[in-house]
Amino acid sequence: MIRAMQLQKEIPSFYHVHCFEQLGSTNTWLMEHTDMEEGTVIIADEQTGGKGRNGRHYHSPKGSGIYLSLLLKPDGALHDVLSLTAATAVACLKAIEEVYGLACSIKWLNDILYEGKKISGILCEGKMMAGKDVMQAMVVGIGINVHSFEKPEEIAGIAASVEDFTDIQKPRQLLVARFLTYFYDLYMSDDSSMHAFYKSHSLVLDKVITVIREDERYMGYAQDIDEQYRLVLRREDGTYESLSSGEISIRL
Ligand code: BTN
Repeated sequence: MIRAMQLQKEIPSFYHVHCFEQLGSTNTWLMEHTDMEEGTVIIADEQTGGKGRNGRHYHSPKGSGIYLSLLLKPDGALHDVLSLTAATAVACLKAIEEVYGLACSIKWLNDILYEGKKISGILCEGKMMAGKDVMQAMVVGIGINVHSFEKPEEIAGIAASVEDFTDIQKPRQLLVARFLTYFYDLYMSDDSSMHAFYKSHSLVLDKVITVIREDERYMGYAQDIDEQYRLVLRREDGTYESLSSGEISIRL
């Protein structure tokens, strides 16, 4: 299990870490405690009700992955869901590359893949101030499959763990420490190189993709990811659309 006291020594003092043996969902827990300080980090060794996007379940077996949520109260440029999700993805990629030497890719917007398999997902949730059009808090949740584990049937073909691809085995704490440190640097500095890094590690750019919505599906060419991390799509009729949310699939 990841130890808060130990981890705290390896990361910027901005963070306040709390570790739990088991939670339903670290995101749900933190969304119920948004009065805590900015920089609060909730880590669970296991989640019994891990949440993915679109109401999906996020498989979070004990001791195998990193199940982490971070409380932010942003007012800088990196303040919206898209930019925070992008910063989380970039920090995760950098940490995995540093610790394991594996270069992962980002599948816009929330998934991190290695050799076509999802090893990490991001779920960013926001809470608005009562009666105002102002964001009170953001909860950034990330799950990273780290140690190898038997994948249940429903994710067996699409998910993998970092250590499925390497003989290197490291404590999860090291990856968390590096991830939080990279994230802090991006969050505090508004690093302009982040956008270029993101694009160069994107899996979707210059590909034909399918946009999947509740009531429709359509195809388009992923032309660009703009400065706001929207996906710029050229549709079959030649018109352009900037997507800021939604599910996509890639035709490889
Ligand atoms: C996705 O793949 O759709 C997003 C997965 C996000 C999972 C993380 S694990 C930590 C945090 N707590 C949750 O319940 N979900 C996020």
